[in-house]
Amino acid sequence: MEKTKVAIVGLGTVGTGVAKLLLDHGDRTARHAGRTLWLQRAVVRDASKPEYADLPEGVVTEDLDDVLNDPEIKVVAQLIGGLEPARTIMLKLLESGKDVVTANKALLAEHGPELFGRARELGQCIAFEAAVAGGIPIITNISQCLSANQILSLEGILNGTSNFLVTQMDRLGMSFDDAVAQAQELGYAEADPTMDVDGTDAAQKLAILAHLAFGAHPRWADIPRLGVDQLDPADLQYARELGYRIKLLAVARLGSEGLELHVSPTLVKAGTPLAEVQDAFNAIAVRGDAVGPVFYHGLGAGQMPTASAVVADIIDTAVGRTRLTFQTLKQFNGDEQPRVSLRP
Ligand code: NDP
Ligand code: HSE
Repeated sequence: MEKTKVAIVGLGTVGTGVAKLLLDHGDRTARHAGRTLWLQRAVVRDASKPEYADLPEGVVTEDLDDVLNDPEIKVVAQLIGGLEPARTIMLKLLESGKDVVTANKALLAEHGPELFGRARELGQCIAFEAAVAGGIPIITNISQCLSANQILSLEGILNGTSNFLVTQMDRLGMSFDDAVAQAQELGYAEADPTMDVDGTDAAQKLAILAHLAFGAHPRWADIPRLGVDQLDPADLQYARELGYRIKLLAVARLGSEGLELHVSPTLVKAGTPLAEVQDAFNAIAVRGDAVGPVFYHGLGAGQMPTASAVVADIIDTAVGRTRLTFQTLKQFNGDEQPRVSLRP
């Protein structure tokens, strides 16, 4: 059976999950396209780390050129976090003729127009399902399944770490610092968890969704945001006594004033679907003018849920589905956008 050779750059929490799925189940593509996925290379910083010892011989390399100069590698999962060297590596991959799959929302929110523009010039694709809400296929749903709609609003719990923190503090009375340490251990938090707890990560994801759902291109840094680091454990308790839960909500709502965007801890009535989202789960309530309300719920952080989204993107890219979507998604460089009102 024909093989699609794949590479990974960055074998951390997500990269290791992707490697696992490719090595154990690379044949799952066969169900879709009569070809298998084959992990050819994984680029790391220090190949001598004991955690890489189980990978097949010859896969791990410290030299990005092993990927750039191998014409048989068509798809690369770029799974290092932060802005640099992630941006430079992404550009090098595109320029060497690779399609790129990434989970790095910070990079897309900051450098999306440059990266997507360059990919289009070069005839390459960037797929990024894992960048928002981990294992929930929200990017595909908004850009494909709901494309007959004008999206009217999105309300989401988009940061798994923050939701984990508030549920651990609320249910178990855990301290904020202990809950952060546990989120890091479980692989939910960013390398710098400040981005999780101060609302930055949720704002970056909201900026990406605003591009796709509304054709808007706000700078993520302009989105008003408060994080769960502003909460006192007593706030959670008072909310509970009043019949509410506190959730970090990212909101985009189209109204007569334009598109309203903000991220903040919000009182949500107990018993409603968003209020009952636990642990590192994410949820997004979308309202479209034709479909009405739709609710998505699933694990928004963690190794295997995120790897699920990355490998689905690799499969879609290998069989040509990403190309089709990517070529029709113009918003990332579009000129027209709704008036954006950034509500404090
Ligand atoms: P980790 O910090 O666990 O992994 C990042 C890896 O990248 C590390 O192993 C690091 O190597 C490696 N790396 C850094 N620079 C280089 C380089 N120049 N060359 C090769 N490797 C390099 O992060 P995650 O796996 O958790 O996250 C990866 C991306 O996925 C981030 O953008 C994150 O925001 C996103 N994401 C994460 C989710 C999660 O649940 N964890 C969910 C959804 C998205 P070293 O070990 O040597 O430092
Ligand atoms: N740190 C992020 C979160 C990972 O907790 O949601 C998923 O994007």
